[in-house]
Amino acid sequence: DGAADLGSSGRDFVAAMQQAKKKIVIFYGSQTGTAEDYGTRIAKEAKARYGLSSLVCDPEEYDFDTLDQVPEDALVVFCVATYGEGEPTDNAVALMDFLRQDDLAFSNGGDRLENLHYVVFSLGNSTYEHFCAIGRIIDERLSSLGAKRVGERGEGDDDKSMEEDYLAWKDGMWDSVQKELGWEEGAGGDVADFEVAELSTVDEAKLFLGELSQRALTGTRGVYDAKNPYAAPLIQSRELFEDGERNCIFAEFDIADSGIRYQTGDHVGVWPLNPDLEVERFLRILNLTDKRDQPIDVKSLDPALAKVPFPVPTTYDTVLRHYLDISAHASRQTVGSFAKFAPSDSARQMLEKLGTDKEYFHSTVGEKCLKISEVLALAAGDSLSSDPSNTNYTVWNIPFDRIISGVHRLQPRYYSISSSPKLHPTSIHVTAVVLKYEPQPGANHVYGVGTNYLLNLKTAAAQGVKGLREEGAPVYRIEGPRNKYKKGEQFCAPIHVRRSNFRLPTSPKIPIIMIGPGTGVAPFRAFVQERVALARKAKEKDGPDALKDWGTIDLFYGCRRSDWDYLYKSEWEEFAKELDGKFRMHVALSREPGQKKVYVQELVKQEAAHIGEALVAKKGYAYICGDAKHMARDVEHELENILGAAKNGGHAEGVKELKLLKDRNRLLLDVWS
Ligand code: 2AM
Repeated sequence: DGAADLGSSGRDFVAAMQQAKKKIVIFYGSQTGTAEDYGTRIAKEAKARYGLSSLVCDPEEYDFDTLDQVPEDALVVFCVATYGEGEPTDNAVALMDFLRQDDLAFSNGGDRLENLHYVVFSLGNSTYEHFCAIGRIIDERLSSLGAKRVGERGEGDDDKSMEEDYLAWKDGMWDSVQKELGWEEGAGGDVADFEVAELSTVDEAKLFLGELSQRALTGTRGVYDAKNPYAAPLIQSRELFEDGERNCIFAEFDIADSGIRYQTGDHVGVWPLNPDLEVERFLRILNLTDKRDQPIDVKSLDPALAKVPFPVPTTYDTVLRHYLDISAHASRQTVGSFAKFAPSDSARQMLEKLGTDKEYFHSTVGEKCLKISEVLALAAGDSLSSDPSNTNYTVWNIPFDRIISGVHRLQPRYYSISSSPKLHPTSIHVTAVVLKYEPQPGANHVYGVGTNYLLNLKTAAAQGVKGLREEGAPVYRIEGPRNKYKKGEQFCAPIHVRRSNFRLPTSPKIPIIMIGPGTGVAPFRAFVQERVALARKAKEKDGPDALKDWGTIDLFYGCRRSDWDYLYKSEWEEFAKELDGKFRMHVALSREPGQKKVYVQELVKQEAAHIGEALVAKKGYAYICGDAKHMARDVEHELENILGAAKNGGHAEGVKELKLLKDRNRLLLDVWS
């Protein structure tokens, strides 16, 4: 039906709007689906408020040279994310290229946008310098061409409070829409997005039980990507930490039979599922335990506005286990929207208060990192035990379509690949710290979905599934649908590769400086492997002195204690031998008994002269990987001092130089918060 919607309008979005009789078009610049979700939410609100449905569009599928032909009573919404150093998402590159042209002209020859009304909601992460840059650029460009922005420009900060930023922005924006476009409120009301039908018969072979694509269901081979991940066998997995408390998983996935290729510095997306206990709690609260395997079909009531976020027909159990992110922290809006389905007055009142009172939500739900099902249990007065099979949950009559609308789709988790294809062409290595924390003293632990899935896989690989136990960690059904994730004795996980711009210079003569404490070292293991592979070749060809004029390779690594969490300790020594002293490891130990606390940035400072020369005189490359918030900032600050000094200037000179390095892709970041 997507094709039917587009009709004959092709890449002309104004024609598409007219054909579909839509007054609102929403373009989402989205990489992982977050901006797309917000775009869809804006569409839903327009429908609920004004009874107007929108076209929700991937900007990649349209041209923008008809922007000047958008009718005066229509609205164009840009809901766009900003990546890394101010880059657009892949699907917004063409849009940005179009808007950035110096002598921009539209298809009718005009160059003004006096008629255009637009809205911007920009997503970004304030730990980056170019926070929300793409939204700002769109806004500035359109208004300079005479277009009129409606309401404030919204900016959502992924580092802090994306959801609250959105909620705080949207009401004012809609008020302005009403004023400027004269739309009348009240025409819509609370409408369902989906229709769920229980099927009395179903062809088992066509029933999706967790498969992520049609091809996975039928077992057809083909290209593996984000839409069709590959069930990669786990070749080996082991624990990397030795402190006996925290877990860090090394996992090696086999891609030999897949045709998948990757480059040093790429990321791998691993598709997790939800652990048993989360699925169980949700099923109980919705009173679906007896119907868990009931085949269902789901239809969108407005395909332009909301696509069914998973393949159908499927089952209740599958939707909760494989397709929806029920383990995510509850959002205020979703919680509030469930109030009318409450089983008691007190539960309803609590949800209404949670939905409207930001402070109350924060202290009751936010700080404890409660999941939706936990909020429902709490509101109904049930115990928040972490063992659902021992708990009697009050049943909530929330229609399943509201669950589908209110809970995001389960997304892949991305890890920096820690192998180089030059040494390991047929496998992908992952290094992942298992996420587990107590959000508040006494609150239930939070377990990261992706990394605990990897922990389960590791345990299963060692023991088979039976007896799967890792102190306190949640248990997953890792064999996957129809035992698909078990090939012989090996367990598999659905994976795909995502390209990155984290790249080594091609010539090994160029020095490199790598800074990656903790799991930030993951891609640097791949970098060093790559240089080792080149070194072997060079020595084969040119003999033992082959590395004579190679650049230096410096790795700044940090961990707590040399006998606890020093990742890949013995490997670095091996690599160093093969790299003839070109490779140097600088290790900052932060909790070594009897020594003072040292962080990587101090070692960076100690090596100032060498780093300055490598980066300035020898035009080397620098890389920072790991914690964005504190470590990367502190390290950048140190680098600024070093660069300033190398340029015979002060800190200000260094700031300029660092920016230059970034612009020239000679300082690259792979950081997360
Ligand atoms: P800590 O846990 O003892 O504070 C990997 O996590 C290493 O990075 C650990 O040794 C950790 O030390 C250290 N680390 C924590 N915060 C840091 C920061 N702001 N800058 C650099 N390293 C940091």
